[in-house]
Amino acid sequence: MREQLELIKQNALAALDAAQTPAALEELRVKLLGKKGELTAVLKMMGKLSPEERPVMGQMANAVRSEIEAKLEQCKASIGARALEAKLASEAIDVTIPGDTVELGHQHPMNMVLQEIKDIFVGMGYTVVDGPEVELADYNFTRLNIEQGHPARDRSDTFYFDDQDSVLLRTQTSPMQIRFMEEHKPPLCMLAPGRVFRKDEADATHSPMFHQIEGLVVAENITMGDLKGALITIMNKIYGHDAQVRFRPHHFPFTEPSCEMDMQCHKCHGTGEIDGNVCSTCHGEGWIELLGAGMVHPDVLRSCGIDPEKYSGFAFGIGLERTAMGRLKITDLRLIFDNDVRFLSQF
Ligand code: PHE
Repeated sequence: MREQLELIKQNALAALDAAQTPAALEELRVKLLGKKGELTAVLKMMGKLSPEERPVMGQMANAVRSEIEAKLEQCKASIGARALEAKLASEAIDVTIPGDTVELGHQHPMNMVLQEIKDIFVGMGYTVVDGPEVELADYNFTRLNIEQGHPARDRSDTFYFDDQDSVLLRTQTSPMQIRFMEEHKPPLCMLAPGRVFRKDEADATHSPMFHQIEGLVVAENITMGDLKGALITIMNKIYGHDAQVRFRPHHFPFTEPSCEMDMQCHKCHGTGEIDGNVCSTCHGEGWIELLGAGMVHPDVLRSCGIDPEKYSGFAFGIGLERTAMGRLKITDLRLIFDNDVRFLSQF
């Protein structure tokens, strides 16, 4: 038995030395030390030994086992090290080869202008809020004094979700006036930018999806002068002091009095024509409509639990795309949504 153990040991150590891969090592481990392995087979014969011999042989068998185990670990480590070395050698990177340049993107021009506008209003004390694009007709129309049957509610202008025409894609950010006044009491100062949707054919100044920036100020003694002051201040900040704007009387059911503000067309400089042709940016008008505004209608204040005898307010809705067009001298609104890199990379 002594010879048998010695032989097992010699063979095992030689075989382990010759093994090249982790798989070969594992195979050897099972063959040598496993339940059906050679060493186990020898140990099973211990019972036949005399009581004196048994502990001696037992000790020897354990020593052989430890030696094989130690060798196994050592081989495992050296095979692992060799594998790592080979891997490193094969994956060596030549750091002197010139790399591919990764092009850096930047903010979309419209978001750049939106950010500028938000910054200006935040500086004037406005709180910026967000609201739902899927809106109730109640907020989008009814509570803004836009009665049933009003042409603005027409299915040819509005995207509805249901047969009752009660849920829609908001056509304006004005419902945010109601939502804000339900939650806040005057004095209040709100700015609500966001997407709006109308069944408009796309052209140089129209798109079925566009962005508005709603503003609302309600406090004691707010006047139309405050509204004009706020709007002129913002226009000067965005366009510089030579910005040409004009106010026109207008009608909105939820403001009284109401107005619209236009900016002089940046393409034809107000002449309405380019080289004898009608200017395509302003359709020959010489002016581009930028926003609607007015003094919040007393009924709207009242429906939100605000006393119109004590408080007054103004509201405005700025068209963001058109403002960005003027700010960045873009002549066709569709360019803003095309995402053509040749266009975007100019800003
Ligand atoms: N919501 C109006 C529009 O989309 C603009 C507006 C906003 C008018 C606020 C008055 C006050 O045309």
